[in-house]
Amino acid sequence: MSNTATLEVNGQKHELPLVTGTENEVAIDVKALRGATGGVITIDPGYKNTGSCESGITFLDGEKGILRYRGYSIEDLAEKACFLEVAYLLIFGELPTKEQLDKFYADIKAKSVVDDDVRKIVDAFPKTAHPMGVLSSLTSALTAFNPSSVNVDSEEAMYNSVVKIMGKFPVLVAWTMRKQQGLPLDYGDSNLDYVENVLKMMFKKPNEEYVQNDIIVRALNKLLILHADHEQNCSTSTVRIVGSSHAGLFASLSAGISALWGPLHGGANQAVLEMLEAIKEDGGDTKKYMAKAKDKSDPFRLMGFGHRVYKNFDPRARIIKKAADEVLGDLGVEDPILDIAKGLEQEALTDDYFVQRKLYPNVDFYSGIIYRAMGIPVDMFTVMFALGRLPGWIAQWREMRLRKEPIGRPRQLYIGENLRPFKDIENR
Ligand code: SDX
Repeated sequence: MSNTATLEVNGQKHELPLVTGTENEVAIDVKALRGATGGVITIDPGYKNTGSCESGITFLDGEKGILRYRGYSIEDLAEKACFLEVAYLLIFGELPTKEQLDKFYADIKAKSVVDDDVRKIVDAFPKTAHPMGVLSSLTSALTAFNPSSVNVDSEEAMYNSVVKIMGKFPVLVAWTMRKQQGLPLDYGDSNLDYVENVLKMMFKKPNEEYVQNDIIVRALNKLLILHADHEQNCSTSTVRIVGSSHAGLFASLSAGISALWGPLHGGANQAVLEMLEAIKEDGGDTKKYMAKAKDKSDPFRLMGFGHRVYKNFDPRARIIKKAADEVLGDLGVEDPILDIAKGLEQEALTDDYFVQRKLYPNVDFYSGIIYRAMGIPVDMFTVMFALGRLPGWIAQWREMRLRKEPIGRPRQLYIGENLRPFKDIENR
C-alpha cells in the first residue's frame, strides 16, 4: 500500500502521509494540510473520523469487539488480575512484580489521608447534591491542599502525584456517598487491600464491625478493571485537553469527572437503572420503550445501548452480564430488573432499527444491576465508574504530558455574519 494519500483541492494535488499503528490501523496525517492548501481544514463534529493522538495504552477494535490494556486482553485481566495491578499496568506500561505492587500500594496508603479541612467542603454541600458534582468539586479542591503542580520531567514528582490521587480519590468517593447518607466521614483500614478498603470506607456503619463479603470484593474488582480505560472517550479526551494547557493533574481529572457525568457517557449507568425501573413500573412494557427509542420526534434513547466505537458487542457488557448472574445468584438476590434487561436486550438484538444501526448493549447496560445488588445508591453508579476510570485518566494524562503533546486547540468553520457596520441603538 502507498504510504501517502492524494488529495486534490482547487485543481492542485497534495500528497498526505499515511501513518500505520502497531495493530495496522491507518491514519492520514493532516498536520501540514492547512499550510499546504492555503487554509483548507478538515471538519468532523464529534471526531467520529478523527484521531486526536497516538497512544500506546488501550487498543479497541469496534468491529471485532476487542479491548486490550497495554496488549493484555480485557477477558484475561478481568479474570486473573486485581484492580491495583491493572492500574499499575495502565499507568506504567507493565504488569508489576509482587515487589513493585507491594511498594505501589504502600506508597498509595502513605498518601491516602485527605486534609481534614476537606470535610468542611463536604459539609457545605446539601445532602441532595448529585454525587458526581460533589466528587468533581472535591477533586478540584485537592489542588488547594496539594498546590505543587506536577513536574512531568521528574519521574519522582509524577509518581508522587499518581500515588497521591490513587490514595485520596477512594476517600473522596466514600465521603461523597456517606455525606448523602448522613454518615460520619472516616477512613478505612490500611491492613485491607485496595478494593476491600474502598468497600469498608463506603459501607462501615459507626456502630458495627464491617464484615467483608468476598463475592462483593471480587465483583467490585472486576467492575473497576472493566471501567479502567477506554482510549479517547469523551471524559478521557477532556482530561487530555485540559492537561494539554499544563493545568494540574487534579484539575484535569475534575474536568474528566464532569464530562463522565453526562447521560450519553458514564451517566448512562444511572439512566439505565432509571429506565429499567420505569419499564417495571409500566408493567414490563418493553415494547413501549423500544418504540420511544426509535421515534425520531422523541428524545428518549435506549440507555445502555449503542457505542461510538463498538459496532458489534462491547466485550465488557458480555463479561458484566455474566457477572450479574453470578453475583445476584451468589448473594441470593432476586431482581426482576435483570430479567427486564435481558428481555430488552433480546428484543433489541432482533429489531431492524437496532440491527441496522449496530446498536448493542454497552458497558453501562448491566453494571448498575450489580451495583444495586451491592447496596450502592443509583446516583452513585457513575461515581463508581469514575473510581474505575481513574487509572486510565491518569495514564492518558501522563502519556500526553510525557510526549509533550501541543495544547489542544481545534479549528472551526465559521458560518456566521459577514462584516457589517455598527448600528446605533436608535437605528436598530
Ligand atoms: C460510555 O466512548 C467510549 O468509549 C464511552 C465508554 C467508555 O468506556 O468511556 O464506552 C462509556 O459512554 C458508553 C455509552 C453510554 N451511553 C449510553 O448508553 C447512552 C445511549 N447511547 C447513545 O446515546 C449513543 O449510542 C452513544 C452516545 C453511545 C453513541 O452515539 P454516536 O456514536 O454519536 O451515534 P449516533 O448518535 O450518531 O447514533 C447513530 C444512530 C442514530 O440514528 P440515525 O440518525 O442514524 O437514524 O443510532 C441511533 C441514533 O439516533 N442511536 C440510538 C441509540 N444510540 C444511537 N437510538 C436509540 N437508542 C440508542 N441508545
